[in-house]
Amino acid sequence: MADDDMRERLIVGLDVPGREAAEAMVERLGDAVTFYKIGYQLAYSKGGLELVSDLAASGKRVFLDLKLLDIDNTVEKGVESVMRLGASMLTVHAYPHAMRAAMRAARGSDLTVLAVTVLTSLDEAGLAEAGYEMSVEALVRRRAEQAREIGTGLVASAAEARAIRAIVGPDPAIVTPGIRPAGGEAGDQKRVMTPGDALAAGASHLVVARPIVAASEPKAAALAILEEMSGSRRAA
Ligand code: C5P
Repeated sequence: MADDDMRERLIVGLDVPGREAAEAMVERLGDAVTFYKIGYQLAYSKGGLELVSDLAASGKRVFLDLKLLDIDNTVEKGVESVMRLGASMLTVHAYPHAMRAAMRAARGSDLTVLAVTVLTSLDEAGLAEAGYEMSVEALVRRRAEQAREIGTGLVASAAEARAIRAIVGPDPAIVTPGIRPAGGEAGDQKRVMTPGDALAAGASHLVVARPIVAASEPKAAALAILEEMSGSRRAA
């Protein structure tokens, strides 16, 4: 039987083209998985946002990965709508004004606002092209400090989790993608970590998509990852 505590910490990325495929995957995963991430591809497909409320109504938790950024009033109203859908987590870009606006709407509710510090696809050249005269590391650090002050959680690559945990302290959520079970294929992820190592580095939640949704037996793959997560805790 999967460890309930670990099921709360495993978020399966529903990286599928549409509602029908998503529902089929949720059905196959059954009670092995309680937390799903819905990103642009599924959210903006027909019925994608309704799926958020339908999953929430069926007792699942949903991380809506829409990376909001706009003027404060628009962010605040957008977050209020997301709360009405019943999402449990939502991403915003880690601009202080956007984090504050999102927190104004979410404070006191069950919604965890997660800040995306710097997209992991951006390197120093990409930042310079966008007008930032800072290293990626310095910008991640500054935004993590700002997230701590404002009260959001963070999305971070597993490789950054330890440094970010040291900045924000024990409480804020740190959600990490780029997870591969021991011996798994990395695919296009450049720097991957096993579930146990990511938890040890300070991740509160792990996002896993292809190792589960592209597996021939998705439920067995999810249970094996939960087992790895529980094992790492027992070993700790
Ligand atoms: O298939 P895989 O487990 O690599 O998918 C990871 C999920 O996390 C995908 O939905 C991907 O978009 C997302 N993600 C990521 N790396 C980031 C941010 C988000 O892989 N830096």
